[in-house]
Amino acid sequence: MSLHYLVTGGAGYIGSHLVLALVEAEHRVTVLDDFSTGHRWATDGHEVIEVDIRDLAALRSALLHRHFDGVFHFAAKSLVGESAQKPLLYYQNNVSGTANLLEVALESGWGHCVFSSTAAVYGSPQARVIAEEHPVNPVNVYGETKLAMEQMLSAVHKQGAMQAVCLRYFNAAGAAPDAHRGEWHEPETHLIPNILRKAAGEDRALTIFGDDYDTPDGTCIRDYIHVLDLAQAHLKAMTMLHREGGFHTLNLGSEAGYSVREILEACETTVGRPITHEIGPRRRGDPARLVADASRAGQILDWRATRSLGEIIESAWLWEQERQNLQAR
Ligand code: UFG
Repeated sequence: MSLHYLVTGGAGYIGSHLVLALVEAEHRVTVLDDFSTGHRWATDGHEVIEVDIRDLAALRSALLHRHFDGVFHFAAKSLVGESAQKPLLYYQNNVSGTANLLEVALESGWGHCVFSSTAAVYGSPQARVIAEEHPVNPVNVYGETKLAMEQMLSAVHKQGAMQAVCLRYFNAAGAAPDAHRGEWHEPETHLIPNILRKAAGEDRALTIFGDDYDTPDGTCIRDYIHVLDLAQAHLKAMTMLHREGGFHTLNLGSEAGYSVREILEACETTVGRPITHEIGPRRRGDPARLVADASRAGQILDWRATRSLGEIIESAWLWEQERQNLQAR
């Protein structure tokens, strides 16, 4: 059955991959984005509403009383470092913006929301793998705002007004280069695109942030998940909400941990040559190890990550070459 979904932040990295998946599943999509970090080329062919979610009057005027079968909520500021520099921007955009969106959702009768949350809500856990029961204790403003957004959704659910799933992503990576989609942040802070931009010849330093962690090779371990696997989980989460309702918090990760060095070596294998890098000091706030226990998503959504680290890096490398061409135009 074809349904009509609102995707806030649908011009961004993960949101635009979800839009692809929704279209493949023959749903209708309306994208809401302020294009502060999203890309217009990522929304071609869809209805686009250009609104800043901090602006309640503009949101109301664009959306009030329209019908949507559900909302996928991605619109948020998402840089950990920036969140320390501009905390109020993060609280206004992420927390107040979500309150505005939910207000219009409730006034308009949209009852289903899949929310883009993050493993950053766990802070610096000591556990080898992190399940949803792990205490939440964000250690940066970005994580604090995402936790507040989850709590807001939970409160609205308790009111009986909204069925919701909060998806806590570990490290989203990879691309859909055959559909001209991929990661493009300015500035870029994430490991895999930073490595591949260097490999593509960009005049930039590539630094490994710390090699003295308590891990086998001294560099931080993360759980990388292909953005197309994430997109599938969103579709399944919305389908489950329509069927069963409720309020759910689910980790999305591959359950495999790779160190920064292992990622660098995998990138070198994919590009076929060594990639110049240096070892720098630790980056503030980086936990040594973050690996998901994603079994709850397996049980509730019948979902698991299917794409390997090799597929993640190969797709990201194909996209990086396309992105370099787009950037050169
Ligand atoms: N790293 C480097 N050099 C770089 C970039 C990153 O060594 O140029 C290291 C980081 O120190 C970290 C690992 O590579 O150990 C991964 O870093 P990313 O910046 O790619 O990702 P993070 O794990 O810091 O962040 C991700 C998401 C955030 C989310 C966080 C949850 O991108 O949105 O996981 O902890 F908040």
